[in-house]
Amino acid sequence: MVRIGRILSPAVFTLAVFLLFTGCAKREAEIKVGEYGSLTGSTATFGISSKNGIELFVDNLNASGGIGGKKVHVLVEDDQSRPEEAATAVNKLIAQDGVVAVLGEVASSRSLAAAPICQNAGVPMISPSSTNPKVTEIGDHIFRVCYIDPFQGMVIAKFARNTLHFSKGAVFRDNKNDYSVGLANYFTESFKGMGGTIVADESYSEGDQDFKAQLTNIKGKKPEFIFVPGYYTEVGLIARQARELGLTVPMLGGDGWVSDRLLEIAQDALNGSYFVNHYYEGDPNPIVQSFVQSYRKRYNATPDGLAALAYDAAGVLTNAMRQLSTQDANAFEALSGPPNADQKAARTRLTTLIAATKDFPGVTGRISLDEHRNAVKPAVFLGIEKRSYKFVATVEP
Ligand code: PHE
Repeated sequence: MVRIGRILSPAVFTLAVFLLFTGCAKREAEIKVGEYGSLTGSTATFGISSKNGIELFVDNLNASGGIGGKKVHVLVEDDQSRPEEAATAVNKLIAQDGVVAVLGEVASSRSLAAAPICQNAGVPMISPSSTNPKVTEIGDHIFRVCYIDPFQGMVIAKFARNTLHFSKGAVFRDNKNDYSVGLANYFTESFKGMGGTIVADESYSEGDQDFKAQLTNIKGKKPEFIFVPGYYTEVGLIARQARELGLTVPMLGGDGWVSDRLLEIAQDALNGSYFVNHYYEGDPNPIVQSFVQSYRKRYNATPDGLAALAYDAAGVLTNAMRQLSTQDANAFEALSGPPNADQKAARTRLTTLIAATKDFPGVTGRISLDEHRNAVKPAVFLGIEKRSYKFVATVEP
């Protein structure tokens, strides 16, 4: 070493040592991304649709070469539709698997359970579809690519009041579900602000099977509609039991109704009802149509709003990763490197790049994140007729 040091100039010597060391450091061939979702349990279609959307996006990305010479590898954890399991899943993805970023969850209560873990670890998390405002308030590493519930509640109230000309509504909420409680409150506030009255406000808990007592109370108050901001399994049962009790008024719902299973459960009970979604598969926009076609080809099913949002969440994340790889190859490498200061700095840079997302061309619309890390997007109204969906309107923010 001493001899070499004498022969080579100090600068060249330093470079040789540097190359020796970096040559020895293992270069990761893939970039690991975690995904957690409800692949089983009461909201299994949420997790399955989201997984399909992410898989479709990432497989296409990898087929066209990946990012900065690396393939993206998505590690998926099933949280069984339970908040405690969501926290466990994300802990494992970060601490054991060493993922660089996390995609998920759909349900706000589960995103709220897991987001603090991402925030504390400095790992960016993008929820495709959790709409409760509290989710991104957890901290500066937490993002979403969907609109939030104050907006959703307001557009549903406007639709009830100005389009359907209703003035007396009932609310039937899931009182253990952050999304449902929040959306019920935002809706109520807006509807009252527009001169409407809420004549009944009843609640249930996820997993309940019998809703007749509450529906009987609601019926006694003679509302013109019932707002049910819940998830599809209970919504389907509620609709059927309402009709059995002779309560025939339309039901209105939020994005929690989005599922292939909704009308299988409700059968004809939701004809004449309306709900809000994040996109419409019949939208002639070529971005939407090419997504719908490739999804159908691969899964033999029509992508729902969750598949579309998850596809977009993967798009926003990998777009930021690509920017980092072209701006600074070392930082991009450090993202997947050993847990040290460089890795930490690289993850902070990734977070900063996600936060700067502007006009990303998503299937669910152009995605720009605001200063609270939320997307500002249009809502889509769908109606249900003869057990099928029809497009009603798109409402711009
Ligand atoms: N917005 C719901 C929540 O925050 C989740 C959801 C989104 C469900 C879109 C279905 C479709 O809990």
